[in-house]
Amino acid sequence: MRLKDKVAIITGGAQGIGFAAAKRFSEEGAIVVIADFNEAQGRNAESELQNAGAQVSFIQVDISNREQVDRLVGKVIETFGKIDILVNNAGITRDAMLTKMSEKDFQDVIQVNLTGVFHCTQAVVPHMVAAGGGKIISTSSVTGVYGNVGQTNYAAAKAAIIGMTKTWAKELGRKGIRANAVVPGFTEMSMVTTVPEKVIESIKSMIPVQRLGKPEDIANAYLFLASDEADYVNGAVLHVDGGIMM
Ligand SMILES: NC(=O)c1ccc[n+]([C@@H]2O[C@H](COP(=O)([O-])OP(=O)(O)OC[C@H]3O[C@@H](n4cnc5c(N)ncnc54)[C@H](O)[C@@H]3O)[C@@H](O)[C@H]2O)c1
Repeated sequence: MRLKDKVAIITGGAQGIGFAAAKRFSEEGAIVVIADFNEAQGRNAESELQNAGAQVSFIQVDISNREQVDRLVGKVIETFGKIDILVNNAGITRDAMLTKMSEKDFQDVIQVNLTGVFHCTQAVVPHMVAAGGGKIISTSSVTGVYGNVGQTNYAAAKAAIIGMTKTWAKELGRKGIRANAVVPGFTEMSMVTTVPEKVIESIKSMIPVQRLGKPEDIANAYLFLASDEADYVNGAVLHVDGGIMM
C-alpha cells in the first residue's frame, strides 16, 4: 500500500477526477477527507466509498471562503491529528469570450480556482511543517499553459497554480514539503459533457493517444506525487494529457 495511514484532503472529491482520486487513495490505504461544496454529491461519494471498505469522510466546504477552510482543517486535525497530503483539485468554469465575460464570472473563477487553492494550502502548511513534511498537489490545466478560447478567467487561475506551486516548492522544500502541479488535458467528466460530440471527436483526433483522459489517469498522477516514491519530485509540472501539447 502506497499511502498506508496517510491523511489526505482532496478538494472537489465529490465527483469527477477528485472522486477517482479519493477512490484510488483509499485503495492504497489512505484516510481520505472529501472536501467539497456539493453536499448531496459529497454524501453519495462518502457512502459509496465507505461501502467498499474505505476510510473516507465528507466535509462540506466552499474553498473560496477562508473561514470555512480554516474550520475544515481544524476538524481534520481534531479528528485525525495530522494532514499528510493536500490535493487542490476543486475547480469551476464560467466560460465566455473576453469581450463578453462579466466581472462576476471572472472573479468567481479566480475566487475558487486561485484564491481557494491559496486558502487551502496556507491553512494546511503549518500542520505539515510541525509534522516535518507533507505533499501538496495542485491541479492546473492545459488551458493554463497554452491558453484557450473563451477561458480568460480559467487560464489566469490555472497559470497561477503553476507559479504558486514553484514558489511553494522553493519556500517549503527545506521543511520536508513537496509541492507539485498536475496538468490534465481533456478529461471525460462533467466539465466536458457540455461540449458537442463533433468537437470531442476533433479534439480526440488531435491527441497523439487518440482518446480523452479518464479521471483515473489523473488520479494515478496524484497518487504518484502523494506517495513516498515522489520524495525527490518538487516543483514539477506533470502533464497528463495524452501528449496533446508538447
Ligand atoms: N475535466 C477536464 O477536462 C479538466 C481538464 C483540465 C483540468 N481540469 C481540472 O481538474 C479538476 C477537477 O475537474 P473535474 O473535471 O473533475 O471537475 P468536476 O466539475 O467534475 O468536479 C469539480 C468538483 O469541485 C467541487 N467544487 C466546485 N467549487 C467548489 C468550491 N468552491 N469549494 C469546494 N468544492 C468545489 C464541485 O462540487 C465538484 O465536485 C479541476 O480543477 C479542473 O479545473 C479538468
